[in-house]
Amino acid sequence: MHVNVYEKYWMWGSAALLILFVGALLWSAGAHAVHPPSHVETVDPTQLANHPEFGNPGVTTKADGSVEVVITIKMYSFAPAEIRVPAGKKVTFRMTSSDVIHGFQIVRTNANSMVIPGYVSQFSMTFQWPGEYLIVCNEFCGLGHHLMQAKLIVEEAG
Ligand code: CUA
Repeated sequence: MHVNVYEKYWMWGSAALLILFVGALLWSAGAHAVHPPSHVETVDPTQLANHPEFGNPGVTTKADGSVEVVITIKMYSFAPAEIRVPAGKKVTFRMTSSDVIHGFQIVRTNANSMVIPGYVSQFSMTFQWPGEYLIVCNEFCGLGHHLMQAKLIVEEAG
């Protein structure tokens, strides 16, 4: 089979571009850690109800006074819908979704995370002052997206 020399240039050129683009993807994932939020911990989104952690979401206080908040998110609610944490202590949020991508934003703070089914999103922060904060979903997730909200209550440390 005869392939015209100019056709060969285009074929090799296309192959080189593909290699370049896939290489750029792998390089950004490997060298620059372009991953889903936090530490790339996975969880089976179809089995959350039976999961030892996400099947029983809520607030746990550790021995050092820090707090862990486990949140399970689905269309169109956060569980738990009301979260109470102490002021001045480190609060670690761990959350995942059982259906689609949701957002977790604590309004008036810089807490803002994407929540992706299959992954655990985690971040920690300390709330200095007692008060009430609104939590909203900021990723469009369906017809009830605008109804998705929860409440965070930061209480005076006892
Ligand atoms: Cu969940 Cu928008």
